[in-house]
Amino acid sequence: MELEPKSREALIAQRIKESETHAFKAVFPGTTNHHNTMFGGTVLSLMDEIAFMTATRFCRKPIVTVSSDKIDFKHAIPAGTLIELIGKVSRVGRSSLDVQIDVYIESMYRDGREKAITGTFTLVAINENKRPVPVLD
Ligand SMILES: CC(C)(COP(=O)(O)OP(=O)(O)OC[C@H]1O[C@@H](n2cnc3c(N)ncnc32)[C@H](O)[C@@H]1OP(=O)(O)O)[C@@H](O)C(=O)NCCC(=O)NCCS
Repeated sequence: MELEPKSREALIAQRIKESETHAFKAVFPGTTNHHNTMFGGTVLSLMDEIAFMTATRFCRKPIVTVSSDKIDFKHAIPAGTLIELIGKVSRVGRSSLDVQIDVYIESMYRDGREKAITGTFTLVAINENKRPVPVLD
């Protein structure tokens, strides 16, 4: 059954709110490069994982990543810090949706935090034949 436009809008707003996903990670030596900052490929992998979790929690269907937009690494992430990754659905299409990921750096021993990275991922809901299906029924 097709949802009325108004109720679809309200449902989307509610699902965006409920699917916002937060995860923390300690930046230990295994995740850093020879500059003693977090390796970019590791951060990208974490961002894709949070995007996947956010999209899955939004639509509760099988999801694949189809694209990533420009990703800005504004600040290096030093070893021995904490990072918080926040995923939020920023666009809902028919079978695709966008998830914005923000990554914040936090010192272990001081309050406060700073945004280090922003990027957007596009993900698609698929069926058992791996073909696109609506993100919302
Ligand atoms: C995702 C996949 C099933 C889409 O198949 P497709 O034949 O391109 O499907 P469609 O052309 O019908 O597009 C489906 C949706 O994806 C969007 N889309 C497809 N390619 C895109 C791209 N490169 N960037 C952004 N959106 C894209 C379309 O706009 C459409 O969105 P809408 O339904 O909201 O309007 C297919 O591309 C695929 O299997 N890709 C590999 C996914 C994967 O393995 N990811 C890595 C592991 S998770």
